[in-house]
Amino acid sequence: MVKRLKVLGIAGSLRHASYNKALLRAAIKLAPDSVEITTFDLADIPLYNQDIEDQGDPEPVKSFKQAIAKADALLICTPEYNYSIPGVMKNALDWASRPAASSVLDEKPVAVMGASTGPFGTARCQMALYNIFSSSNMHPLNFPQILIAEADKKFDDSGQLTDERTRKLIRDTLEALAEWTHMLHRGKNARDDT
Ligand code: FNR
Repeated sequence: MVKRLKVLGIAGSLRHASYNKALLRAAIKLAPDSVEITTFDLADIPLYNQDIEDQGDPEPVKSFKQAIAKADALLICTPEYNYSIPGVMKNALDWASRPAASSVLDEKPVAVMGASTGPFGTARCQMALYNIFSSSNMHPLNFPQILIAEADKKFDDSGQLTDERTRKLIRDTLEALAEWTHMLHRGKNARDDT
């Protein structure tokens, strides 16, 4: 029997009525039975400072790293700020990327979804995230891509995702993430056995 996939969902907006938080909630509801999504709120992660890190990770950073370590894969739901990654998300990934070369991000499968009120649906932010995935030796799922443009037309006033095409894409993405993660694990186990 294939094991249930544990996915950690992280939203890159702290805003109460955030479309990206709503997107993460939609993903939790739409997830197939084989995928279980828990979330981590980045609100308490302090600004990265190597002097503080040298004295030991602050408690919220420890909890964040533990949550990543326990997860089989990550799901990032983030807006785009000024054509790039919001500071909240970049800062959290910077903490998680340490120590370099042996961090909890190393070899972690990851899928990205993003919602913006603009016409490009976080495309530029997602491109920038790929630099981090590469630098941290993560394994991004390339397709399907979830780029939600004009989010104000796809969510209702209570934050429910109403766009049927996007709902299907989310289901497809989570199924693809499960398949991708299992494939990577099989490859890793085969490598370890040789
Ligand atoms: C934005 N927004 C935005 N949208 C976009 O498509 N490309 C961009 O570069 C930016 N830049 C940007 C910068 C800053 C500082 C803010 C606050 C906003 C608009 C953004 O898509 C919109 O505010 C979303 O609603 C933010 O996501 P949440 O908070 O709803 O998840």
